[in-house]
Amino acid sequence: MAMMQQPAGGAYPVVDFNNRRSPKPAGTYFNLYDDLREISPFIRSSADQGWWILTRQDAIREALQRPDIFSNTSVVVNEPEPVYRLIPDMLDPPEQTAFRRVLGPVFSPRAVKAREPAIVARCVELIESFVDDGRCDFIEDFARKFPTTIFMEILGLPVTESAKFMAWEDLIIRASTSAPDYAENRANGVAEVTAYFADLIATRRRDSRDDLVSYLVNADIDGAPIPDEDLISTCLLLFMAGLDTVAMQLAWSFLHLATHPGDRIRLVNEPVLIPVATEEFLRAFAFVAPGRKLTRDIEFDGCPFKAGDMVLLPLSCATRDPRAVDQPYDIVIDREVNPHIAFGAGPHRCLGSNLARRELHIAVEEWHKRIPEYRVMENTELLEHGGMVGLDLLPLTWK
Ligand code: HEM
Repeated sequence: MAMMQQPAGGAYPVVDFNNRRSPKPAGTYFNLYDDLREISPFIRSSADQGWWILTRQDAIREALQRPDIFSNTSVVVNEPEPVYRLIPDMLDPPEQTAFRRVLGPVFSPRAVKAREPAIVARCVELIESFVDDGRCDFIEDFARKFPTTIFMEILGLPVTESAKFMAWEDLIIRASTSAPDYAENRANGVAEVTAYFADLIATRRRDSRDDLVSYLVNADIDGAPIPDEDLISTCLLLFMAGLDTVAMQLAWSFLHLATHPGDRIRLVNEPVLIPVATEEFLRAFAFVAPGRKLTRDIEFDGCPFKAGDMVLLPLSCATRDPRAVDQPYDIVIDREVNPHIAFGAGPHRCLGSNLARRELHIAVEEWHKRIPEYRVMENTELLEHGGMVGLDLLPLTWK
């Protein structure tokens, strides 16, 4: 990341920084965001068409809570005019609020509680499928399969279809932006998953069942059924929001536990600490960096935004801000006060946070009951990618 000259008259640093997906040593982006925060509260990136980065917790929180200024009509900083609209993430209130009202009951604490036995059963099945091997790639063999399996059950689809969803994830969410044919492969992946959901919606319209798609097909907004196009956009968003996120969070958490035996042993001996430790992992490894589009010219926290400008709100900048958090760079697995915003804040705060939390607790608990001691395989080069900051592979070994 190179610092560049300030433009004439500008009172802000300009950096050559982008968050596209391409492999870098693990930890690179969290450190880069920490560095940016200490340069200035707002920074201009010279990448793409040029966009802003807000770097401090107070401003990021406020931006997330002001959809009248910071719109979700685009949430990717280098795509200010997207040709798609994922629901509810890319809607602003009040349109977005109506969809949240429909989706809320599916992800409520009570709905998640009812799913709990199935979540535990799927988690245990997966771990037992490789426990005797003494090794696995944590991400490929567990962290991705686990939330995908749960998602399939919520959709009412056979678990045997999981591989298809994981292949679409590879094309749409996980591929490196510098890979040959990236754009073409991604477009093909989006077309395939869109066609899949369109077909599923048509099937459930004919033959309603006890699953998410049937529920959505029968739901209404202000008395009118939800159009197919919006149902497809909702399914696509759930696919993008719910699978890789849990996998990435698990990967960062287990990388920490595999390399910090003291913390690992403590969780094995005191599983009651798992929910508290989970919050600390969410805080320290807050990998989502939402984008927003400015609705008007405004000076916000000193930053001279113009209508149409894009701004990046890296959540780790907020959750690791020393102005708001004690010992922000340490992982304190019994941290008592931890009001982090790893699930966002304001109207778009993560709708799946109850489900995500339970999946994370169950994964840590069931894993450590069966595999209490493990380490990262020797001679592993740990790489991450930008965008949503995530690890690519995490080979683990145990006796
Ligand atoms: C550790 C796992 C997860 C993390 C860290 C996470 C984080 C986030 C964040 C930061 C946002 C806000 C995005 C923004 O402000 O534009 C968000 C939105 C959302 N998340 Fe999650 N998420 C996780 C898991 C899930 C799961 C499991 C689901 C459901 C299957 C889910 C569904 C959603 C939905 C539907 C939204 C959009 C809400 C709206 O726009 O109103 N997430 N998530």
